[in-house]
Amino acid sequence: MSDYPKIAQLKSVAAFRARLVELGLELPVDDSPLSAAEGSPLAQPIQLGPLKVGNRWCIHPMEGWDANRDGTPSELTLRRWRNFGKSGAKLIWGGEAAAVQPDGRANPNQTLATPSNKTGLAALLQQCLTAHRESFGTTNDLAVGLQLTHSGRFCKPTSGDYAPRIAYHHPLLDAKFGIDSSDNSVVWTDDDLERLIDTFVAAAGLAREVGFQFVDIKACHGYLLHEFLSARTRPGRFGGDLAGRARLLLTIVSRVREACPNLHVMVRLSIFDTLPFETSREIGQPMQHALPYRFGFGVSESRPLEYDLSEGIELLRLLKAAGVLAVNISAGSPYYNPHIQRPAIFPPSDGYLPPEDPLVGVARQIQAARACKLAVPDLPLVGTGYSYLQEYLPHVAQAAVRAGWIDMVGLGRMVLAYPELPADILAGRTAERKKICRTFSDCTTAPRNDLPSGCYPLDPFYKQRPEAEQLKQVKQEIRG
Ligand SMILES: Cc1cc2nc3c(=O)[nH]c(=O)nc-3n(C[C@H](O)[C@H](O)[C@H](O)COP(=O)(O)O)c2cc1C
Ligand code: SF4
Repeated sequence: MSDYPKIAQLKSVAAFRARLVELGLELPVDDSPLSAAEGSPLAQPIQLGPLKVGNRWCIHPMEGWDANRDGTPSELTLRRWRNFGKSGAKLIWGGEAAAVQPDGRANPNQTLATPSNKTGLAALLQQCLTAHRESFGTTNDLAVGLQLTHSGRFCKPTSGDYAPRIAYHHPLLDAKFGIDSSDNSVVWTDDDLERLIDTFVAAAGLAREVGFQFVDIKACHGYLLHEFLSARTRPGRFGGDLAGRARLLLTIVSRVREACPNLHVMVRLSIFDTLPFETSREIGQPMQHALPYRFGFGVSESRPLEYDLSEGIELLRLLKAAGVLAVNISAGSPYYNPHIQRPAIFPPSDGYLPPEDPLVGVARQIQAARACKLAVPDLPLVGTGYSYLQEYLPHVAQAAVRAGWIDMVGLGRMVLAYPELPADILAGRTAERKKICRTFSDCTTAPRNDLPSGCYPLDPFYKQRPEAEQLKQVKQEIRG
């Protein structure tokens, strides 16, 4: 366990602010959340191109490792999409990562965006829409998209080891994940990539056919399209300078727009990264590499524990010019630096004890997104990494949107624990403390150990499932 004060111990907004000052962090914090009737900035509608979105809450994509083996949704998958619908958020950003081809799945229970799952995709959308309509009367101002992915280095389409398909050999990640640095059979050829582009276009067409309003071309968290952004050492059209490294993502965006004129395109982007960290039961330590470090996107080459947004901002401008309606700003990867990607006080089983107060990680993401907003003001941006704020999430979200630091605030883990948080806040109800995500990381530890993801500690539905007991045993074994 780490020694950082837990958020629940900060008993007032004043105590929370004092902790931010102690840590030297600048975050806007409102005194109290406002309801929609009181004019909350979070209740204001926003226009994403032609898409009307009824408020400033967004639900981030979150997969559950719980689809059937053929890629069709299980009842657990459908339930999660219903929960997204009843959250009260008006932008459902992708629902979950759906793989564009079976061998591009990150786990054998990942949802597929292939014709074999057309009915399943339609069911996910319909359950989300129906739940929203039942709770809020209309779906006119709700926008729902599907996140499309290829897992690249982290493909695991069957149980067992990874079956990676990588952009280039990465000295630290090859070592961390057991890839032979001389094995070029796992590296994509340019010809393979042309076929992959077609596959993304086909998946987007399918999403359009079943009624999704947009697709999110996933370029974050170490997966394939994110990895290409750091492929400086890759020869040929899809590597080298930023134009080469961004070519795969930008080509997919433009080909999808050409093929599906009525489908909007968004991108989720890891705007910065840092060195991979060692997996351990100790305080997290970065892996070592000689300088300059040229294997990250949004990473300072001379001080790789610091971020450098210059290329990320250039990419945001390119995405805007390519017709992307909005970008969801994320960071890092849950596989090799989870404290950057999803700040938590309790680490997942493949993580390490937090090397910093998780509030530092939250502020890093919020400040990076703010810098992007300042640099590219006319591109709508969604912010990430707010769940660790817990009680004070609504206070910071409201203040950040009011101050124009970000256009919309996305919820990840919080909505697994407490799906109705946005609805409660907008209605002026006090957030229910017992439902607030405390970043126990069970929703990450479970899938790392081949169990479905879910909020086992707080969601009564998961608490009583047989997997809850299995997860307890796994955690006990890890503790030794
Ligand atoms: C169980 C779980 C599954 C996730 N699956 C996805 C995913 O499919 N696609 C994605 O872009 N991010 C995924 N994420 C990351 C979240 O969308 C979000 O970026 C992260 O949890 C940080 O936001 P938070 O602090 O609100 O949790 C997942 C996170 C969790 C905890
Ligand atoms: S398991 Fe629940 S409480 Fe723990 S991090 Fe996930 S959503 Fe939060």
